Amino acid sequence: GAPVEVDLSKVEPGMLFTAEWRGKPVWVVNRTPEMLAMLGKHDDRLTDPNSDNTAQQPEYCKNPTRSLKPNFMVVVGICTHLGCSPTFRKEVGPADLGADWPGGWFCPCHGSRFDLAARVFNGSPAPSNLVVPPHKYLSETKLLVG
Ligand code: FES
Repeated sequence: GAPVEVDLSKVEPGMLFTAEWRGKPVWVVNRTPEMLAMLGKHDDRLTDPNSDNTAQQPEYCKNPTRSLKPNFMVVVGICTHLGCSPTFRKEVGPADLGADWPGGWFCPCHGSRFDLAARVFNGSPAPSNLVVPPHKYLSETKLLVG
């Protein structure tokens, strides 16, 4: 499949934009400073906090935010358990997911939880972090996925 261009000027802080690449949804989230501040506070609850599973992201995204630019998270929207589509839940401590939930994604199929860097929480059936696809920035407002 051909690379896909995303216009970042439309992705407001706190918002998730869905692009399509190779028939898969690719999410682009513009994380706010508050969202970024959540990362790193719950590493002991993550299966792979340091993104050591190299199959799940390009080398350039093996970092604490799993991204090239700290605010923009680019990730394939498919659960690593059995392929359902997780739901973006950016609110902190929702009643249905627990007061300790820092926000991220919840997979409705079997209850896997991921943080705002799409890293899987301990106790989830998903075995690994969501996949970060190859991507690069063509300019301040243009992202190329693929
Ligand atoms: Fe997501 Fe099973 S497919 S938890």
